[in-house]
Amino acid sequence: MTSAPDVVIAGGTVVTDSWSGPATVVVSGERIAAIVDADTDLSTFGAARIIDAAGKIVMPGAVDPHFHLLIPLGAFMTCDNFETASLAALAGGTTTVIDFAIPAVGQDPIEALDDKIAAGAESRCDYAFHGCLSSAPVDAAETISQMAKRGVRTIKLFTTYRGELMVGIDTIESVMRALTQVSGLTYIHAEENEAIEAAQAQAEAEGRIGARGMAASRPEAAEESAVAQVLGAAERTGAPVYFVHQSIPSAVDLVDAARLRGIRAYSETCPHYLVLDETCYEGQFPERFVCCPPIRSAKTVAALGDRLAVGRVHTIGSDHCCYSTSQKEECSHDVRIMPNGLPGVETRLSVVWNRYVRSGQISPEDFVRMMCSNPARLNGLYPRKGAIAPGSDADLVIFDPDLTRIVTIGDLHMDTDYTPYEGMSVTGWTRTVLMRGTVVVEDGVLIDPGPIGRQQNAGPITFW
Ligand code: URP
Ligand code: ZN
Ligand code: ZN
Repeated sequence: MTSAPDVVIAGGTVVTDSWSGPATVVVSGERIAAIVDADTDLSTFGAARIIDAAGKIVMPGAVDPHFHLLIPLGAFMTCDNFETASLAALAGGTTTVIDFAIPAVGQDPIEALDDKIAAGAESRCDYAFHGCLSSAPVDAAETISQMAKRGVRTIKLFTTYRGELMVGIDTIESVMRALTQVSGLTYIHAEENEAIEAAQAQAEAEGRIGARGMAASRPEAAEESAVAQVLGAAERTGAPVYFVHQSIPSAVDLVDAARLRGIRAYSETCPHYLVLDETCYEGQFPERFVCCPPIRSAKTVAALGDRLAVGRVHTIGSDHCCYSTSQKEECSHDVRIMPNGLPGVETRLSVVWNRYVRSGQISPEDFVRMMCSNPARLNGLYPRKGAIAPGSDADLVIFDPDLTRIVTIGDLHMDTDYTPYEGMSVTGWTRTVLMRGTVVVEDGVLIDPGPIGRQQNAGPITFW
C-alpha cells in the first residue's frame, strides 16, 4: 500500500469460497488493497473511513448469473429498468448482474445486445450480458464472434417457447461449437417443448389450464428429457454447457453423471426452487408464482436441497423477472399466455441463507461459492468479481447473519408490487454494501450513487 486506504472494514468474519475467519479488509480507490490480520492496529492505516463489521460476515459482492430486464415474453414486458433493478440488486447484496439480451420476435441478436448495452448506462451496479439466439435463423459463428467483440461469451438458448425463442438441437450444437472458439459457454433453458404442449393440451381438456394448474402444465419429465438431450449435444461437440434454473434433483443428477464422464456441465438453481413448493398454486394468488420451470412438490424441493447440500449445484441465480400483480392477473386463466417469472434479485441471498446456511445444510463458504465466485468464474469475470483478494474490485457485502425480518414488499426496492416471499420470517440480511469502493448501502439504507455501473467484459472462461 503506497498511500492511505480509503476504507477499512474491521471486526467482521471474512467469508470467501475457500476460507473464512476474522480479518480486516483494506480498500484503496475501487480495489481491495489487502486482507490483514484482525488484530492489526487500525491506527496504522490512517484510513479515511473505518467500518465496524463486528458480529457480521464480510463477503464478496454477489454476482447474479441469471437476471432479466426488459424481457419480451409473449405480450408482456417486465416493469423494471436498469436504474430500479440495479438499486434493488445493491440493496440485496448483489453488485454485478448478468442480464440476457433476448431478441424480440424477428429482432437480430446483435441488435438486441446493442439495445441492452445502451440501456446499461443507467445501471447503479456493474453488469454483463448473455447473448441469446432465438428461432430466427442466423449465422451462429459470425454472431458469436460479434458478441465476443462486445465482451459477451455466454449465449442462452431455449428448448421451449415455440415460435419465439425455441431452437432445435442443430442450433444448439452449432452454437456450442462456435462458443468453443472463444472459450465461451452455452446456457440452456432445458424443458422439452413437445412434452409441455402435450401436458398443456391435456390440462386444457380437463379445464385446469389456469395458474392453479401451473405445476402439472410443465412436468418434471419435460425438464429431465431436455437436459439429457442437451448433454448428448455437449458430448458430441466436446463443448461445456450450463443449465439455467434447474428445478428437479434428477436434472442435477444427470449433470453430475455427465461430469463423471468428462463433460464440463454445470447446474444452476434458483431460490424459489429451494424454498417454495407447489402448494403456492393452491393459495389466494397462484398467478404470482407462475414461472418456468414451475415450482415443484415439497418432496422434489427437499431432494433438490439435498443436492445443494452435497455440493452438486454450481450456482444460484435469481432468474429475476419483474412483473406486477396486474400483469400476472391479466391472463391467469391460461398459463400458456401468462408472463412467466418471479421478482427475486433483492431476496436471493437472504432467503437461501435463512433456509440453508442457518440450518447447517450448506456452509457460509458454499454460499459464497454459489452466489459469488462460481457465477463470476462461469462468466469470465473472476477474480475481478466474486472474490476477496488483493486487486479484486472492492465489491463487498457486510451481511448480518442473525438479523430477522418479515419479508414484505413495502421494505423492498424491486419495481413491482409483490414478492413471492411476502410474510416469510427470514434471518440473514445485507446491511452495508460497497460497490467498487463506494458505500451504496449503509446499515440497511440504500444510497443511490447515480449511474456508476460499468459493463464488465467477459474474459475467456476457465472450466473445471
Ligand atoms: O419463468 C421464467 N423463468 N421467466 C424468465 C424467462 C426464462 O425462461 O428464464
Ligand atoms: Zn429460462
Ligand atoms: Zn430466466
